[in-house]
Amino acid sequence: MSRLFRARLVSAMVSAAPALFMLACGSAPLAGPASSPPEEAGAPAPEEDADAGIPCPPSGVSKGPWVVGVTGSAASIRFEACRAGVSGAVTLAPEAGGESRTLSSKESTSVITVTHTAPLNPKATPDFAGTWYNHEVSAASLLPSTCYRYELAADKAATGRFCTARKSGEPLRFFAIGDTNPNLGDTTEQVLARAIPRGFDFTLHLGDIQYYDSTLETWASWSPRVAPMLRQGAFFPSIGNHEYEKPSEYEDYVRRYFGRTGLPGNDTAYRFESGGVHFFVLATEEAIGPGSTQSKWFEEESAKVTTLPGFRFSVVYFHRPFVSCGDEGDNPVARTFYEPLFVQNKVLLVLQGHLHAYERFELGSVTYVTSGGGGGRPGDPNKNLGRDYCASRKSAGAFHHGVLLEVEGPSLRGTVIDAAGGVRDTFERAVP
Ligand SMILES: [Fe+2]
Repeated sequence: MSRLFRARLVSAMVSAAPALFMLACGSAPLAGPASSPPEEAGAPAPEEDADAGIPCPPSGVSKGPWVVGVTGSAASIRFEACRAGVSGAVTLAPEAGGESRTLSSKESTSVITVTHTAPLNPKATPDFAGTWYNHEVSAASLLPSTCYRYELAADKAATGRFCTARKSGEPLRFFAIGDTNPNLGDTTEQVLARAIPRGFDFTLHLGDIQYYDSTLETWASWSPRVAPMLRQGAFFPSIGNHEYEKPSEYEDYVRRYFGRTGLPGNDTAYRFESGGVHFFVLATEEAIGPGSTQSKWFEEESAKVTTLPGFRFSVVYFHRPFVSCGDEGDNPVARTFYEPLFVQNKVLLVLQGHLHAYERFELGSVTYVTSGGGGGRPGDPNKNLGRDYCASRKSAGAFHHGVLLEVEGPSLRGTVIDAAGGVRDTFERAVP
């Protein structure tokens, strides 16, 4: 398809698009953007390309890099290219100094059949139909508890870092954020700009990673805006309802970018470990209640990890809340099933998204945090205060934020950082 024809096609699609309202996690319609659509931040400048008509920067790197599937000795560095023949060489070396090595990617192709645009943000690069080239570098025999810096041969500016799993008992810092909508204003970028300098090994995403439904965003416009997060450390997402906004979105983008990591479990419910802390990701868009496949998996695996050498405690995270006093649903059936397992198997922290706000509950031995304030328009954290457990809510507010979590010695500390760098809540609890 020629670039001119494609541009006309996109223009026609944009003009024919319905006047969509931005949707929050649930179904409540929201007002349009307060200001004009933001400029693309760091998006590659489209230029003529002889390949398949897809705009492609000189480097050929269209998205990434990012890192998934990190363990104590392995990691997968990924990026997407917009044409064939882009170098897949990646050089990595310990961040603190040491020998570097260069690894080659395995390239695979994905044929995307539908172009998606952001109707209210014509500056957002569309997600074009066409052939895309997935590069994956499988790094093995890495040193444990070591942070690595890497660089793509195709683009010397495309650098990043990741840390292999910490040894049990060592300090551990990680970041949690949910409901990122970086093309709605600049709050996602602001939260990241305030949180990243504090330093962390990896990001837990609590679901609703990108919002087509905001009508402001595509994966192409999402990618450069969250690049600082993806380059700070490994990315361990849970899957939200907005990962299924288009019929093939999950397969074409979410699973292609972040799935097939090889971690125990499957693409949407899996586990990993660092510092003796075991992390379980559950999938609230799938059957999760008693008797479901993932409930059985969690019941078995959450008990099993308690017997592994170095086990300290577990963290569970997912998208739709089990407990919340806000403008989204809760899930008392799931809570009734899972909470005894949490208590029995030392799950001390549960992180949830979906509500575009912050909440913290202390319910028995379990700290529940709702952190869905990663960029979507703030919701109402107080709409359902009549739910019986709301008396046990310790903190709440409607603001954009992410949560820095630090395990050090016998303590787990949480620091809730807003888009201005303010600290909205802190908590500290004993851990084994
Ligand atoms: Fe959601």
